[in-house]
Amino acid sequence: MPRLSRRNLILGSAAIVGVTALMTKPRDHSGPRDPYFLDMQAALMRAGIATPTLVIDRARLNANVDTLIGHLPAGMGYRIVAKSLPSLDLINHIRARAGTDRLMTFNQPMLSALSEASPEASQLLGKPLPIQAARNYFAQLPAGRAEAAGNVQWLVDTPERLAQYSALAAELGRELKVNLELDVGLHRGGFTPGSELKAALEALRGDPGLSFAGFMGYEPHIPALPTALGWRDRALKGAWNTYSDALGLAAEVHGAEAIAGLTRNAAGSPTYRYYEDTGIANEVSAGSCLVKPTHFDTDLLEPHLPASFIATPVIKSLPVTRLPGLEFAEGATRVWDPNSSKTVFIYGGHWLADPVDPPGLEYNSTFGRSSNQEMLNGGPELEIAADEFVFFRPHQSEAVFLQFGDIAVYEHGEIIDRWPVFPASA
Ligand SMILES: Cc1ncc(COP(=O)(O)O)c(C=O)c1O
Repeated sequence: MPRLSRRNLILGSAAIVGVTALMTKPRDHSGPRDPYFLDMQAALMRAGIATPTLVIDRARLNANVDTLIGHLPAGMGYRIVAKSLPSLDLINHIRARAGTDRLMTFNQPMLSALSEASPEASQLLGKPLPIQAARNYFAQLPAGRAEAAGNVQWLVDTPERLAQYSALAAELGRELKVNLELDVGLHRGGFTPGSELKAALEALRGDPGLSFAGFMGYEPHIPALPTALGWRDRALKGAWNTYSDALGLAAEVHGAEAIAGLTRNAAGSPTYRYYEDTGIANEVSAGSCLVKPTHFDTDLLEPHLPASFIATPVIKSLPVTRLPGLEFAEGATRVWDPNSSKTVFIYGGHWLADPVDPPGLEYNSTFGRSSNQEMLNGGPELEIAADEFVFFRPHQSEAVFLQFGDIAVYEHGEIIDRWPVFPASA
């Protein structure tokens, strides 16, 4: 049996600590720039752009639209989620490419703007609007756009809201289309099959001011559930059973014929690929997957390409990383973490986004975030000069797209168009 000496124990422990430390020591993530982003940078410079800008790659956007439409089974409609693609030109481009005139709208200013610009489009509210917002919509609707309101389906989630919309219809002297929100497992509100839903369906049948337009059941929680023990499959089956029971109740109250023409809306980007026939839903809504922010980097959405980027000029590029009051630690920090070797300060910052090019750029949690000149650090291979561009991928599109003014549309190595975004009002 070996003799354990105190000295050997100390040396052994030190070796373990050393090896563990080496294993956790950050690797250098820097490297050469991606030619894809170098081409985009050259296009931005040729277009005279020198402020933080949201860029959409139109060829990738088109490929994503084709991927989506190509996946839909026969008879399945596609509804564009307007809030996730918040630009009239962007929506119109997708409408033309996808061959759809169905939109899902989430706030009154956007509903009003779309009614004015595209009165022929069908708009289904993606969340129930307060009755005063609906009243404001009608008050603001230009006389020449009255027909647009006939293409709106108002989402209703409770008997109380149904009564409010009934009163508004009477007040306006016009019929309002109502779509009932179903809780298919997300638990963000809505009806579940039962006496309350039945009463709502009966109220709709007997109300001369309201017509029953369909159901909306959104289930983005499902792909987030573990697959273990069939958990995810059970949730999907449960969602579809709930939807199917609601359709059964609707047939009971309104008759099988009446329900044949209903809008049966379901899904979102994370789940549209679950729908392989029209047994439950006859249309899916999706928006984000067409531009693919990082929150949509999921297995199911693997065939979709990132198509939206924030590009911002470098203001200062420094060969070192120096932190105020911690100048003495500069060398040791670089030895420990090569990714803190160099520094750029960018134009703007603090967005819901991750840097993607040049490779290996990281935020500095000690220096902190900045909306004015954000610090990013990189490794020894980082090569970027002042006035060149850093590229980010947004985490989400709906709020981030509204922060940069007109979208720069990129295709075949050039900025070919600018698409204004909706105002950042909710
Ligand atoms: C009701 C509803 N449907 C669909 C979506 C899907 O939108 P996206 O495809 O942009 O995730 C959303 C997103 O919030 C939603 O609230």
